[in-house]
Amino acid sequence: KIIVLDFGSQYNQLIARRIREFGVYSELHPNTMTLAEIQALGEVKGIIFSGGPNSVYDENAFKCDPAIFTSGLPILGICYGMQMTHFMNGGDVRSCDSKEYGRTEIEIETDSLLFKGLPKKQTVWMSHGDQVSRLAPGFVKDASSSTCEFASTSNPEKRIYTVQFHPEVRHSEFGNEMLKNFVFEICHAEKNWSMHNYIDMQIEKIRAQVGTDKVLLALSGGVDSSVVAALLHKAIGPQLYCMFIDHGLLRKGEAESVMETFGRNMKLNLTKIDASKKFLDKLKGVSDPEQKRKIIGNEFVYTFDEEVKKLAEGENIHWLAQGTLYTDVIESGTQTAQTIKSHHNVGGLPEDMQFQLIEPLNTLFKDEVRQLGKELGLPDEMVWRQPFPGPGLGIRVLGEITEEKLMMVRESDAILREEIAKAGLERDIWQYFTALTNMKSVGVMGDQRTYDYAVAIRAVTSIDGMTADWAHIPFEVLSVISSRIVNEVPHVNRVLLDITSKPPGTIEFE
Ligand code: XMP
Repeated sequence: KIIVLDFGSQYNQLIARRIREFGVYSELHPNTMTLAEIQALGEVKGIIFSGGPNSVYDENAFKCDPAIFTSGLPILGICYGMQMTHFMNGGDVRSCDSKEYGRTEIEIETDSLLFKGLPKKQTVWMSHGDQVSRLAPGFVKDASSSTCEFASTSNPEKRIYTVQFHPEVRHSEFGNEMLKNFVFEICHAEKNWSMHNYIDMQIEKIRAQVGTDKVLLALSGGVDSSVVAALLHKAIGPQLYCMFIDHGLLRKGEAESVMETFGRNMKLNLTKIDASKKFLDKLKGVSDPEQKRKIIGNEFVYTFDEEVKKLAEGENIHWLAQGTLYTDVIESGTQTAQTIKSHHNVGGLPEDMQFQLIEPLNTLFKDEVRQLGKELGLPDEMVWRQPFPGPGLGIRVLGEITEEKLMMVRESDAILREEIAKAGLERDIWQYFTALTNMKSVGVMGDQRTYDYAVAIRAVTSIDGMTADWAHIPFEVLSVISSRIVNEVPHVNRVLLDITSKPPGTIEFE
């Protein structure tokens, strides 16, 4: 594997991703990791220092363990990683006259292995305020640009390579090839990273970790917890206990599909907790969106606490599995990667329960989790499930929630999903659902005047949910959906289409 040490660059995740795309496993770690800790990870073939916002002269500027430089492991220092390498080994770094940001042409002057097979002149992406002004002993200049004399340097004997630019950014024309050269020509890493291998690796690790202990998992039916369930089941079979809380705000067929896939087909120890009455009682008469969210969130934590206690004490369970992803870990900062996000998946842990955590997806990116789910044999509709908010349909029935309104949103949503699937649009639309507005309007059905509810269709395209555009569903598909909804769903006499982007709208209505 290749270790990326994190010096704070916004691009550091990208480095690990690129390397995994080559079929070589790569992990991001805090820059405080010592050589001994790195070696303890096993089979480390090389180390990359990421860029970072500091200047090496700052009082608290990050420095790596100096032992890394004499370890004999190949090193690639990127941007700040380059400056630190020279600075710590007897070179000098100074501030540039003006910050350099953007595309620059470099000229390669040696036959450094880093540039093997690449043109002598090429465009790279620069983003720095400091640069190396005098090389550390043993280093040679490999490339320069008009503004940066030492655009790339190396100490080939020690297998240390440095670049002032960012090869991990797509704007660096041959950046990917340089990273490949580092990984294969310099580190001699083997291509053995695939989801297939990952499963074997994880199974071994999970078994070693938990031994004969029992593990509890809160299954939500979402992609992440579903994949964790399938993976743990494969690793420890009957030692896994899953709990599925039905808060009564699920979509049509959701609880059944979770029970069917995991209970009947995969034969997991799966307990369904039907808490819907409790939730709906608590929500009675409440119409303020924030208050609704709070009630649902709190109630979820209470229910979870209560049930976990019962189950864990009865079954003597000491481990809790969570579907934390690599992005969650990185977002909470690699320095604090071990902090448990209290709201993640399970809503918070009972305070007096001493669980040890097991998070088998915490080195994976979302698309890798999907691949893993597929490899584990989960059905497509589970692996490609669209995001579904924790408060569920509770925030898709605007205003006060009643059983009848839940029925309207559930049935109309099921029709929408069916028709989108029929039209083959599932993968093109990021998220699509119906919401029940709190407006009533006049209609006519048969010869009867009606005074009933309006359902809104919300469908968006997005990359990450942070921004979104409304999805341009073909009119023919919309017209089938509309007529089916008003004909098949009682008390709905009007269908509206939401054509608001985010921002200024949000994806959900509440
Ligand atoms: P908004 O409505 O904020 O939604 O544009 C962005 C994305 O987040 C989902 N969402 C939630 N997910 N708990 C969740 O787990 C929540 O409380 C929640 N609220 C919104 C939403 O479905 C969309 O994908």
